[in-house]
Amino acid sequence: AKPIRVALLGCGTVGTQIVRLLTEQADELAARVGTRVELVGIAVRRPNKHREVPAELLTTDAAGLVASPDVDVVVEVIGGIEPTRTWLLAALTAGKSVVTANKALLAEHAGELFEAADASGADLYFEAAVAGAIPLLRPLRESLAGDRITRVMGIVNGTTNFILSAMDETGAGYAETLDEASRLGYAEADPTADVDGFDAASKAAILASLAFHTRVTAGDVYREGISAVTSADFAAARALGRTIKLLAICERVFTTGEDGAPEESVAVRVHPAMIPRSHPLAGVSGAFNAVFVEAEAAGQLMFYGQGAGGAPTASAVLGDLVAVARNRVVGGRGPRESAYADLAVRPIAQA
Ligand code: NDP
Ligand code: HSE
Repeated sequence: AKPIRVALLGCGTVGTQIVRLLTEQADELAARVGTRVELVGIAVRRPNKHREVPAELLTTDAAGLVASPDVDVVVEVIGGIEPTRTWLLAALTAGKSVVTANKALLAEHAGELFEAADASGADLYFEAAVAGAIPLLRPLRESLAGDRITRVMGIVNGTTNFILSAMDETGAGYAETLDEASRLGYAEADPTADVDGFDAASKAAILASLAFHTRVTAGDVYREGISAVTSADFAAARALGRTIKLLAICERVFTTGEDGAPEESVAVRVHPAMIPRSHPLAGVSGAFNAVFVEAEAAGQLMFYGQGAGGAPTASAVLGDLVAVARNRVVGGRGPRESAYADLAVRPIAQA
């Protein structure tokens, strides 16, 4: 088979690890996919900064790279809504499969991205967008597609969990721990996205959309961050045998309408919560994430692992890249959007 030619958009914390894994594992990936997976271009802002990758692959012209007839698959690890939205729509419209880690974009524009993918027959995969290395979206989209999910709940932001764990375990200060999270590559380019709960809200919107087969956007999610959490709050929690975690909670809600008919909707929220120290989420420390999924037939499932950082996130991206490359080799497609339920999102009163 012809090689699968990949354009990489972005070569920062995650992108450099994608290049490393693609290079170090080239032969194994070729065996798994059935043909070679070749990196044909890398779009960055400041090419002079990138001595770790072959200079001939670098370009500042992301739009041109996406449009190149020599590209089959676009992997996006730049972040933000524009211009990435425009570039990924262009790729999908041209029939090029897309793998992205961009939760902010998906939480706002998944609908139009899926529509572009469906129109051209391209794949859209985004496992790395939620919970880093943890295989979570594939189970929701595929393994649990025959079940009825009622609840998805857990810790989905590594930076805030890193900060809250440090405040609890060592009494470390909020600001110094946030700086360390940025240095370790866990935080977003603008870390207010982490500490104010926007990142977790985007992830909650993606989880709710997949779990409940409807379209939930970040703006539908009730959101509180951790910037108001103090060491006094931790002392109060400790006195009660509890700790504090930032939780994302997505629930199917069953109510009765005014006419007595059963009604179903979705409630999605992100906020700090006091949880008993005996709860499994209390032991999730550092940049780790953990998510419980409850489904009618499966019962309760728990997903746990590294939720942020270059290599863990690159692992999830590479898994998606292998999937879309295999689909190209055998002529199949991955799962489409399953937004058919059109459930209302219940507003949750701001505190
Ligand atoms: P970085 O800030 O480390 O890297 C961003 C990269 O994008 C840089 O290489 C930068 O170029 C490049 N870039 C920025 N703007 C442009 C542009 N206009 N044209 C071309 N290139 C551009 O981000 P991360 O690697 O941490 O994150 C990337 C994405 O992955 C984000 O969507 C993030 O939310 C997501 N993600 C990150 C995780 C993590 O743990 N870090 C985990 C899961 C998802 P240059 O280097 O030249 O400045
Ligand atoms: N900034 C994000 C986090 C990266 O801390 O969880 C992983 O999505």
